[in-house]
Amino acid sequence: MGKDVIVACDFSSAAETFAFLDRFEGRKPFVKIGMELFYAEGPSIVRAVKERGHRVFLDLKLHDIPNTVKKAMAVLSALDADIVNLHAAGTTAMMTAALEGLTRPDGSRPLLIAVTQLTSTDQQSMERDLWIREPIDEVVMHYALTARNAGLDGVVCSPLEAGKVHEVCGAGFLTVTPGVRFSDGAKGDQKRVTTPAEAKAIGSDYIVVGRPITAAADPAAAYERCVREFVG
Ligand code: C5P
Repeated sequence: MGKDVIVACDFSSAAETFAFLDRFEGRKPFVKIGMELFYAEGPSIVRAVKERGHRVFLDLKLHDIPNTVKKAMAVLSALDADIVNLHAAGTTAMMTAALEGLTRPDGSRPLLIAVTQLTSTDQQSMERDLWIREPIDEVVMHYALTARNAGLDGVVCSPLEAGKVHEVCGAGFLTVTPGVRFSDGAKGDQKRVTTPAEAKAIGSDYIVVGRPITAAADPAAAYERCVREFVG
């Protein structure tokens, strides 16, 4: 599995998404479809983006009882997304049920990755609201290991955690990392950020990049810059 840049298409309509993707003229970036676009347009948006020749990371972060997640994953599997995800907090039973639901009759399935702790959760809110008292970086590694032991393919994490995740879970366990900014760009609401080159050095497998590309005057050029810095 090679390193790649995934473009977060955080738009609220198919029209806006297609107008954006049309600016790439022949290039077919790996696309992330999140809750906003999926809930606005429904499953057809996944099929439409796939039909245009893009790979799709469907970022819906499932978290429910095992049976419900298993059945929902079977539906998502039929959409032919390349990567789907869930919350590791749903426990091992939910993650193994998800894998069962995702696996097609021929044995193939999309890659399945887990959110450990959201990067919007910090030590204080984790202790106060979730009643988890261990250091947050240890919690992240424990959740990553639980996901790996359940048979998942990787985690969503900060690029700053990617090296440690590989140490703990193995080099082949995927790290998909948002929170990427150009050295001369705005951070927006992301706090712990790295440049594409730093994410590469730490060992991220995929970087998820939204506003540095979607809000750029020339998105295709910003994408090419990411690819140059991250993939080389
Ligand atoms: O615009 P920006 O580059 O910050 O977009 C990052 C994308 O990654 C957004 O779609 C955001 O929802 C997602 N994401 C994140 N942090 C996480 C999980 C997902 O920024 N922990």
